[in-house]
Amino acid sequence: MSSRIFPDGFIWGAATASYQIEGSPNADGKGESIWDHFAHTPGRVWNNDTGDLACDHYLRYKEDVRMMADLGLNSYRFSISWPRIFPTGGGMPYSRGLDFYRRLVDELHRNSIQPAVTLYHWDLPQALQDKGGWENRDTAHYFAEYASYLFENLDLPVSMWITLNEPWVVAVLGNAFGVHAPGQTDFNLALKVSHNLLIAHGLAVNAFRLAKRTDEKIGITLNLVPVQPLTDSEEDLAAARRSDGFMNRWFLDPIFKGSYPEDMVKIFSKSFKVPVLDEEDSAIVSSPLDFLGINNYTRVLVESTGDQDAFMGSPVNPPDADYTEMGWEVYPMGLYELLTRVHRDYGPLPLYITENGAAFEDRLMENGSVDDDRRVAYLSDYIEQCWKAIQEGVPLKGYYVWTLMDNFEWAFGYSKRFGIVYIDFETQKRYPKKSAYWYRQVIGRNGLE
Ligand code: FCB
Repeated sequence: MSSRIFPDGFIWGAATASYQIEGSPNADGKGESIWDHFAHTPGRVWNNDTGDLACDHYLRYKEDVRMMADLGLNSYRFSISWPRIFPTGGGMPYSRGLDFYRRLVDELHRNSIQPAVTLYHWDLPQALQDKGGWENRDTAHYFAEYASYLFENLDLPVSMWITLNEPWVVAVLGNAFGVHAPGQTDFNLALKVSHNLLIAHGLAVNAFRLAKRTDEKIGITLNLVPVQPLTDSEEDLAAARRSDGFMNRWFLDPIFKGSYPEDMVKIFSKSFKVPVLDEEDSAIVSSPLDFLGINNYTRVLVESTGDQDAFMGSPVNPPDADYTEMGWEVYPMGLYELLTRVHRDYGPLPLYITENGAAFEDRLMENGSVDDDRRVAYLSDYIEQCWKAIQEGVPLKGYYVWTLMDNFEWAFGYSKRFGIVYIDFETQKRYPKKSAYWYRQVIGRNGLE
């Protein structure tokens, strides 16, 4: 195979999220988040694990930035914990919470690593949840105030701002399936939450423009997935189209076209209360963005259930495929299909892969090494598809591996390891895996061998 070299200036990074790595849940005046609350509710998280310690990154961030520098990362994507800045969501900001992120950003700059900041990676202040959380439109306004405060007070360069991480997951897993905080199971609620998240996103984009951080960029990160029909029968094709509407277009369309997808409005309306995007809201939600961040791990293969309105389809797991520890099919080609499709239907717009990676069962050897060959193969195959998409003219500008180090994987607690660095959670020692050394080479040569 010939080498796959990426365009000059392509960004190679790694991503994390505050609740998954920071620990120190009460330090420096931090308020409780919905994930603190959820994880401390017995039976919600595997093994009743919590993020109380996680990777202890709040105290070990210097060591972690040194590790990123050793890996040669160009950029680091992390999220800010809202309740560290506004312990109860609004009111008076807490400057010691901001100081932590200022120290972190400063440390990144000292190491020539560009900071990419996610404003919301799921840790809503519990005090806002107590007032209805994302069901309450006021939360969108509180979010915009929190975002403005950061645009005005995090006075060090930030290369990329991401308003929300995966609003679909927030709305659906948190409010319809109940497996994420706040643990509700009501599809009407999920639709309402998705609407208020979109408003929050748009208001934050407008606040960003007002703040005149002119050399910096703002966008959103969506979890997108290529949805394919099991066969090319009419029924399967229609089922795949509905799943695509539910999983991808429900957020892509309002953000880039200013309206909810009509076919989905029709289907949802049969059983649920569907939010309306009036003219004013439509303008807020579709405020122009500088880029779109895409998180992708797998594909979804769908078979019709016979129900003409089923939008979750009947997902199929092909028996001869390769699966990660999450049970997600390894399907690198899907990333190429997704990138070219998003570019065609919603572009032109700079795109970033803001997450891609895999959980496998890793074993720490006595000599401190972790031979995660399957992760190396996964990353290499997915990165190759990124390269292919660029050859087709897709303006993909960067790639962030999920994730820098093993961490608290939400409902799965510490049972799933996604890191390119292994964490011994007893000692908090960090051990770069084989994939970390491999990634350093990819970055060094700006591509694959
Ligand atoms: C994404 C999340 C991220 C991590 C990966 C595995 O949905 O954004 O925090 O949990 O999945």
